[in-house]
Amino acid sequence: MTASTSPSPSARERAFALPLDQVDPADPQLFVDDTVGHHFERLRRDDPVHRSENALFGPYWSVTKYQDIMAVDTNHQVFSSDWTHGGITISDQPMGERLQMFIAMDPPKHDEQRKAVSPIVAPGNLANMEGLIRERTARVLDGLPRGETFDWVDRVSIELTTLMLATLFDFPLEDRRKLTRWSDVATANPDIDQSVVATREQRMAELGEMLQYFTRLWNERVNAPPKTDLISMLAHGPSTRDMTPLEFMGNTVLLIVGGNDTTRNSMTGGLLALSRHPDEYAKLRANPALIDSMVPEIIRWQTPLAHMRRTALADVELGGKTIRKGDKVVMWYLSGNRDETAIENADRFVIDRARPRQHLSFGFGIHRCVGNRLAELQLRILWEEILKRFPVIEVLGEPTRVRSTFVRGYHSLPVRIPA
Ligand code: HEM
Repeated sequence: MTASTSPSPSARERAFALPLDQVDPADPQLFVDDTVGHHFERLRRDDPVHRSENALFGPYWSVTKYQDIMAVDTNHQVFSSDWTHGGITISDQPMGERLQMFIAMDPPKHDEQRKAVSPIVAPGNLANMEGLIRERTARVLDGLPRGETFDWVDRVSIELTTLMLATLFDFPLEDRRKLTRWSDVATANPDIDQSVVATREQRMAELGEMLQYFTRLWNERVNAPPKTDLISMLAHGPSTRDMTPLEFMGNTVLLIVGGNDTTRNSMTGGLLALSRHPDEYAKLRANPALIDSMVPEIIRWQTPLAHMRRTALADVELGGKTIRKGDKVVMWYLSGNRDETAIENADRFVIDRARPRQHLSFGFGIHRCVGNRLAELQLRILWEEILKRFPVIEVLGEPTRVRSTFVRGYHSLPVRIPA
């Protein structure tokens, strides 16, 4: 073959040909193109704890192997989540724009505020919610068109997660798409992508509107007897009822984003994974009981939050490297979930794994996701109701992906349910 007809190198070959000091997975374009996995594969092989001098986000460490990520996530004494040090995402917000939410706090305040919202996802409360989630899921699925192309993200993933959030907050149903908008605004980074908000000022202004709306709900509920919705719990909880407006805004955002983007993108990711692994889709149809192990596998395969960031509070050794006090450390869950030394056939979507909950998507340690069982419940119900109705859902094209190194998600996915 002559040079002129040889194929151009694949994305994987390009990732493996880069000089090591130029490997930098925090490039939003790699997430849009879904090629970041090759860079993680390279780092796991050649430099599992890796330093990048990134132009966009500043210097940071990438932690890419399963066990190293666990070591960081379970050592909150050294690896801080606190917003005062920069919080939990690779991008540093200016001080006045940092959201003060308990995911971005260290003990003791983190522990107190987490305790106040945990009861909403206690097993008893989840059991109470199951009927309503199923009823709403069934209604959304029954309303889908047959024999024509539609966007799964908008019609199913967004609609269902938004309905669920409205349930959690006891939020006026007619305004529920405001929750979707606020979630998108909260995670938007206009320095990288201006499609959601054009400027930082616009972002803060819209979050201010959110605060006003929720303050109204708070004022109604604080003066009423305690109920089991999240606002009422925050308004009556001994450690949350005196929150400052910024803390209230931060924690509201946390619960909206926590329960929205993540579950939404798992709903899309699950369908995409099945369409790319037709043998697994066939296995599922033959044995719907596999939904139980498929749901955590969807969450691993998708890894809806690609990373959490920490800041070192002291000099520390990790993977043979010395991380200095003040350094930014990024735990790439997306990479840990593909680590062959921890998970067999990690690149494959396998719906009947022996230990499907062995993944990093919910994190570990004191910040481990509060809503993990709720997310699994929603996904289980969705797939149970889908299988009752539709023998197959055809994916008709590639998804468009969110331009973010944090939320690993989709803008759209064209599908069709055969008539
Ligand atoms: C598939 C769905 C979900 C994924 C992948 C996910 C992922 C995560 C991750 C990675 C963390 C941080 C863990 C760490 O730093 O170690 C987290 C924390 C959190 N999540 Fe989720 N989440 C999901 C669904 C939900 C839902 C449905 C809710 C809410 C109702 C929720 C609420 C929270 C909250 C409040 C925290 C903060 C916990 C803390 O700081 O102590 N999440 N989640």
